Amino acid sequence: MSTSRRTVLAGAAAGVAAAGLAGAGTAHAASGAKPPARELFGRLADGTKVYRWTVANGGTRLKVLSYGGIVQSLEIPDRRGATANASLGFGNLDDYVARSPYFGALIGRYGNRVAKGRFTLDGRTYQLPVNDGPNSLHGGDKGFGKQVWDVEPFSRGSDRGLVLRRISPDGEMGYPGTLKVKVTYMLTARGAWRIDYEATTDRATVANLTSHTYFNLAGEGSGSVDGHTLEMAAARYTPVDATLIPTGELARVSGTPFDFRRARTIGERARTPHQQVLYGKGLDHNWVLDKGVTTVPGYALTLADPGSGRVMKMYTTEPGMQFYSGNFLDGTLAGTSGRLYRQGDGLCLESQHFPDSPNQPSFPSTVLRPGTTYRSTTVHTFSAR
Ligand code: BGC
Repeated sequence: MSTSRRTVLAGAAAGVAAAGLAGAGTAHAASGAKPPARELFGRLADGTKVYRWTVANGGTRLKVLSYGGIVQSLEIPDRRGATANASLGFGNLDDYVARSPYFGALIGRYGNRVAKGRFTLDGRTYQLPVNDGPNSLHGGDKGFGKQVWDVEPFSRGSDRGLVLRRISPDGEMGYPGTLKVKVTYMLTARGAWRIDYEATTDRATVANLTSHTYFNLAGEGSGSVDGHTLEMAAARYTPVDATLIPTGELARVSGTPFDFRRARTIGERARTPHQQVLYGKGLDHNWVLDKGVTTVPGYALTLADPGSGRVMKMYTTEPGMQFYSGNFLDGTLAGTSGRLYRQGDGLCLESQHFPDSPNQPSFPSTVLRPGTTYRSTTVHTFSAR
């Protein structure tokens, strides 16, 4: 490892510690942190009970469903201490099952698109369900966000959280290998939300897990996120074709609406007439994070809502960030508080490997082999200014 790379990693680790993300080892007891508790949220058609778990710590409150590992609610304070649910979702299970555009869902086995739903690994070609135009999106039509997970609560020192486990059978949604998956949602004493993903396989496969939370820092149902600002440490992004599959190029953001190296207002960028923006009906692209793949979460971005003062920062071990500006919300879904979600009423920031990596040899690899462990960590910190 070169000196400069070591410095970057050390810097990322220091940033994480400074932001209070190193949850374990924080000695003082969290004020008001109760052990996670569950309640019945609904039943699936086959009678399976779905629970909603509540985890609260350091001013943040997370509600998570055993169906899809869905983050149903994310409450955070504004500059006056007033809390709001900053994530889009539904108030009932039926809507999640019947019509959710992945609100709050755990995504797997493969976040974002695989071209034509097909890839070749070790000489064998695998066909996945095609569920987005000609492509496979977010692990197929019954991906991880539509499966039931085993959920176990934990309290460790001042941290509170949930461990979600699931065994994805060999061949599920066309993917090879039995994948044993463990996802940890944790809130630290400072209210940071950390997600750790882990997976092992018994046959060579691909894995790319993420979280599909739609954020609106002013509160879900409060209208558009056009006025939010985003700053992202990414000098390049992956341009796409008309079906949103990367062309393979890592293009520079300078002089394009994709330049968020300084904080920019989202609405203005998502309305800039540019061929790439037209393809996505707004912003719906993968940014190449300057930090690259890291073993400790490194700084990725800052999202801010000037109105409420709420600020979210994200740190990740992943090399990419899908920023989707809620372009396909069309006013037909009534969210948690009963208000209709219209285009741009929420946005997703999905830490990930690049879309279609299984077909793009020049992208960082998403191949997982027996005897190795897939690991990915993303941390969200919340503050107000
Ligand atoms: C994708 C969008 C897609 C959305 C589904 C995002 O991650 O980038 O293209 O429409 O998920 O809600």
